[in-house]
Amino acid sequence: MTAQNRKLFVRSYGCQMNVYDAQRMADAMSPEGFVETDRPDDADLVILNTCHIREKAAEKVYSELGRLRALRAERAEQGGGELMVAVAGCVAQAEGAEILRRAAGVDVVVGPQSYHRLPALLAEARQRPGVVDTEFPAEDKFTQLPASDLRRVRARGPTAFVTVQEGCDKFCTFCVVPYTRGAEVSRPVAQVVAEVARLAEAGVREVTLLGQNVNAYDGPGPDGKVWDLGRLLFRLAEIPGIARLRYTTSHPRDMGDALIAAHRDLPALMPYLHLPVQAGSDRILQAMNRSHRSADYLRLVETIRAARPDIALSGDFIVGFPGETEADFRETLRLIDEVGYASAFSFKYSARPGTPAADLGDQIAESEKVDRLARLQDLLEQQRQAFNAACRGRSLSVLFDRQGRQPGQLGGRSPYLQAVHADAPHHRIGDIVTINITAVGPNSLTGTLEPFHATDRLEAIA
Ligand code: 5AD
Ligand code: SF4
Repeated sequence: MTAQNRKLFVRSYGCQMNVYDAQRMADAMSPEGFVETDRPDDADLVILNTCHIREKAAEKVYSELGRLRALRAERAEQGGGELMVAVAGCVAQAEGAEILRRAAGVDVVVGPQSYHRLPALLAEARQRPGVVDTEFPAEDKFTQLPASDLRRVRARGPTAFVTVQEGCDKFCTFCVVPYTRGAEVSRPVAQVVAEVARLAEAGVREVTLLGQNVNAYDGPGPDGKVWDLGRLLFRLAEIPGIARLRYTTSHPRDMGDALIAAHRDLPALMPYLHLPVQAGSDRILQAMNRSHRSADYLRLVETIRAARPDIALSGDFIVGFPGETEADFRETLRLIDEVGYASAFSFKYSARPGTPAADLGDQIAESEKVDRLARLQDLLEQQRQAFNAACRGRSLSVLFDRQGRQPGQLGGRSPYLQAVHADAPHHRIGDIVTINITAVGPNSLTGTLEPFHATDRLEAIA
């Protein structure tokens, strides 16, 4: 094995920010001669990029570490090369050295703010396995990371994530994020513009800006002023090649006028908004330390729809928060009924150590949570199907970003983030085309390519 052909396998759990972080970890390891593989069995280094948001997600890490330990032993027995293991992400941040105590065979534990130091940490671990770095370092990891390799960006296709904001100051009582990702911090405008311009150079057409509270973005601008997300989006839309912009996840409190206006005035900004409310009962919202009440949320939705009537709304919901009664739960159903979601994520409340809600009395029985989640998901699924069914017969602009499931087919996303398939030649990956929707399946739409070449202008009228 030379320094040039070592293989890296990263397994990411949880949110899209972890997907982005995984790519940046690969960037960090690339100067060390590591190339990515999609098989852990091939790897010289495995990074588990973990999620701490719910107990189930966190526990997966330990079963995966058990499997890796077996793989490591097998490798050693057969006289194969070394297999190094790093745990990154939010479990690393939350549990730190505890991971080394609970699981054998871990070389490095690295938090989300320190992964630019991975090469140094791995070098240290070669001398002395079990290195932990969960600092919130003073240096900015983004300025320390090497720029993404254009070939690797090209291989990932025409859509990309870019983290522009990290952390959370909201302290919802159920949530670990303020503890694992730290306080809200925004990247400077110039840094984001440079990264997006580089992606565009490699053929990226659609960028999704990421942040735990992305709409709280308040990055320093090149003019010395603080820029909000709306202004950043307008600037990014000027970059040649960038035809579509999205952002996620947003907090209702930070949905400012400039951002709402961007949904009205910026054609590149896709009509899709993930705006978690979590629950519909004001009593529960208060106990969750959410700063909004259900009427505030409904008013906000109305204002956003006035700016962009066709916007597809998505949300997050938690059922079975401590003290949630059947009547409280029904208020969540009522709110969902009033809003009408195009898609949504919903979860059973999971008590997380160290969060205020974990210590509340009146925890809800698992069977009750299961029942409420099923009823909630039924309603959300009906709404999703109705939203999709309404697209039959419509022409939607679609960015082809991948091979389809059937031979001769390509897949892509509509402005509303629906998966769409159509017959088209392979070379059209990366094109924004118009598709006539002819069929609506449970998980995707199918259609036919309109005979003329669509242009980016079609985005504006999608
Ligand atoms: N239990 C269940 N769901 C949670 N979420 C965050 N913390 C918890 C928890 N302790 C959900 C919220 C959030 C999404 C990312 O995960 O709905 O918006
Ligand atoms: Fe967690 Fe609430 Fe912050 Fe979202 S806003 S990351 S749910 S604390």
